[in-house]
Amino acid sequence: MSAAAGPQRAWRVAPGGSLRGELRVPGDKSISHRAVMLGALARGETRITGLLEGADVLATVGAFRQLGVAIEGPRQGAATIQGAGREGLRAPSAPLDVGNSGTSMRLLAGLLAGLPFEAVLTGDASLNRRPMGRVTEPLAAMGARIGTAEGGTAPLRLHAGGELHGIDYTLPVASAQVKSALLLAGLHAAGRTCVREPAPTRDHTERMLTGFGYPVAVQGRTACLDGGGALTATAVDVPGDLSSAAFLLVGASIAPGSELVLRHVGWNPTRTGAVTILRQMGADIEVLREGETSGEPVADLRVRSAPLHGIRIPEALVPLAIDEFPALLIAAACAEGETLLTGAEELRVKESDRIAVMAEGLRRLGVAAEPRADGLRLVGQPRLAGGVRLDSHGDHRIAMAFAVAALRAQAPVQVDDCENVGTSFPGFVSLMGQAGLEIQALPAAGA
Ligand code: S3P
Repeated sequence: MSAAAGPQRAWRVAPGGSLRGELRVPGDKSISHRAVMLGALARGETRITGLLEGADVLATVGAFRQLGVAIEGPRQGAATIQGAGREGLRAPSAPLDVGNSGTSMRLLAGLLAGLPFEAVLTGDASLNRRPMGRVTEPLAAMGARIGTAEGGTAPLRLHAGGELHGIDYTLPVASAQVKSALLLAGLHAAGRTCVREPAPTRDHTERMLTGFGYPVAVQGRTACLDGGGALTATAVDVPGDLSSAAFLLVGASIAPGSELVLRHVGWNPTRTGAVTILRQMGADIEVLREGETSGEPVADLRVRSAPLHGIRIPEALVPLAIDEFPALLIAAACAEGETLLTGAEELRVKESDRIAVMAEGLRRLGVAAEPRADGLRLVGQPRLAGGVRLDSHGDHRIAMAFAVAALRAQAPVQVDDCENVGTSFPGFVSLMGQAGLEIQALPAAGA
């Protein structure tokens, strides 16, 4: 959610140094959203630990409070939800404003479609520009009645009623958000809902539905469920977010003399593409311990600095690393030789146009970066330019990627428009400080 102008709007990041220590990153954003949503839909008390207390997840919590669900917390990652089933949801008296959170908006569109009351979903300027037709169109095919702004964007007006029926749908783009929205709508649709994806995407919804006692049949790239069942409350432990860990994995890889251990990080195979890509570039990342929590794989990771080389990023890995490209492109900027990213046009419709915004920042850092319709080509540099000012365009992951770039810069780097970092990684500045990257928050007026 876009916070008001605050003391963290811009950062001055000290150049050079290394990252060392043993850390735990905040909870996984995708799993946190789903834990709150399924807890609210289930009957009984769901206890969550490790919940991400970032603005995006708090937006989901706030939306369910407006829908009449009693939620205690979150405090230090712990929250308790008293679910009363889907019938327990009440008409909200105001629009549900989910701020910057695409996951909240798309998943809630499916979860709330066909309810016997009207609800409006809205967000900040960035979210209200992002494509929503990819969820509203298949939901309409299931019988939902949803109004959009011109161009198929939010605000979304979910009209009361419209009995839902199951659908057999092939996703035109690989999107876990769309897959999840349709499966959540399918819970209360008549008959069977099947979603086929063109490439594997994160499967947290399928796993967590199973954990809440709701059968999901997964075969290859198709997930199916029968509507009309009920979810049973359970306990959910949320592992650390590999997407947040990515900034530390990249930072430690590019900063000579680094060694970090990251504990209890989500290690779901539909999320590990960034680590595969970094290893292909020569990164030294070791899995120390593997386990499982609440149906999700977890691991402790050790990363040490290593010389990186540019690669042609395999397109099959793109959906498995979709949120990590801002960080990965900083690794590529410090790698020897050329890196080529293709098949990644989805990056243009994330919290910002990540291809354009990264290309602009990389060029300021002295890296020849050539944006393309579906990706980017760049040639790495031994040192990045410093004394530059980089605009994150309000995109949390871009701001954090630019901050990490300072580890290889020759002079301080200023990163503007950083307030949205709190959507996914609250405490980023202090955690990076503990590891060895000095980030000074500048007052907005000094930015
Ligand atoms: C998410 C899915 C991805 C990802 C987003 C979180 C999710 O989006 O980029 O940050 O929790 O399902 P798409 O499914 O639209 O690619």
